[in-house]
Amino acid sequence: MIRSVVQGCGSYLPERVVTNADLAKTMDTSDEWIQQRTGIKQRHIAAEGELTSHLALAASERALAHAGMKASDLDLIVLATATPDETFPATATRVQAQLGMTGGAAFDVQAVCAGFVYGLSVADSMIKNGLASTALVIGAETFSRILDWNDRGTCVLFGDGAGAVVLRAEEGKGTSADRGVLANALHSDGRQHDILYVDGGPSSTRTTGFLRMEGKEVFKHAVVNMATVVGEVLAKAGFETKDIDWLVPHQANKRIIDGTGRKLGLPPERVVVTVDRHANTSAASIPLALDTAVQDGRIKKGDLLLLEGIGGGLAWGASLVRW
Ligand code: ACO
Repeated sequence: MIRSVVQGCGSYLPERVVTNADLAKTMDTSDEWIQQRTGIKQRHIAAEGELTSHLALAASERALAHAGMKASDLDLIVLATATPDETFPATATRVQAQLGMTGGAAFDVQAVCAGFVYGLSVADSMIKNGLASTALVIGAETFSRILDWNDRGTCVLFGDGAGAVVLRAEEGKGTSADRGVLANALHSDGRQHDILYVDGGPSSTRTTGFLRMEGKEVFKHAVVNMATVVGEVLAKAGFETKDIDWLVPHQANKRIIDGTGRKLGLPPERVVVTVDRHANTSAASIPLALDTAVQDGRIKKGDLLLLEGIGGGLAWGASLVRW
């Protein structure tokens, strides 16, 4: 059985760090309020002229180096983003050109904060179906560009960044001991549009628009849907929660992460948390968290990882990966 096996990962954060105290200088907020409600202490913000493709490229180069591979080894790039450089073409094609990759296919997927799990599932399916053999899956965002900096209820929550993994087709035994992506589960519910969306777009207002959110409603859906989809993906692969070595959740909010961990009965030491330093980087948050825990030695080859995320749409999903 063909498996999509992770060969390496990498991430990139813009240089500029904005702390909660920095924000409190320009708006009516406080470090205490932000930390208590979300666990966020700081976020990275892209410089003027620093685009989603630039962050994606830097993360991709690091992922390729970590994998010991070259851009010419790739035949697929899937880039998850809700903040593309331009309406079209896909930002993935700009990364393709900048990497110097001339063959294969490159395209974007748009599932906001669930984007990385969607991108991983798409790449995994293409590898299993023989449409690709070596894929770069990227999550990259410049959410700072779609924030209404006059809306303190949303602008304090997000940051910019990128993360990437390299997958390669390898023959597995078809057992749960195989390395690679073992199962995926994806869902969406378009009826929940109004609780999290951007109030602009090329076909509606012809402007980029700003993020709008009903935080309490999103919170409720997040906790319920995460617990359900996690159970679903574990059942698909024949695992139980006790088998998980690391939960690598979308980093929206420490309280959502803690709630999911508690529901799964996972001790906090087995949950990767970066929301304090990165804030919510949407599609970039899972690969950023992954890379952090790989680089500091927590995640090791053979570990069973559960990745999960939910975002605008609503769209949500989970993937089970043996590292
Ligand atoms: N600083 C200080 N006060 C603030 C701020 C701020 N930055 N933002 C809002 N407030 C005030 C409000 O005005 C309100 O004041 P009032 O009581 O005088 O009217 C008070 O704080 C409470 O506001 P709520 O919106 O009710 O605060 P809540 O406890 O719901 O926390 C939060 C808001 C943190 C957004 C929470 O709802 C949440 O975590 N929701 C999940 C949403 C999320 O994580 N979204 C990310 C995108 S989706 C995803 O990635 C899953």
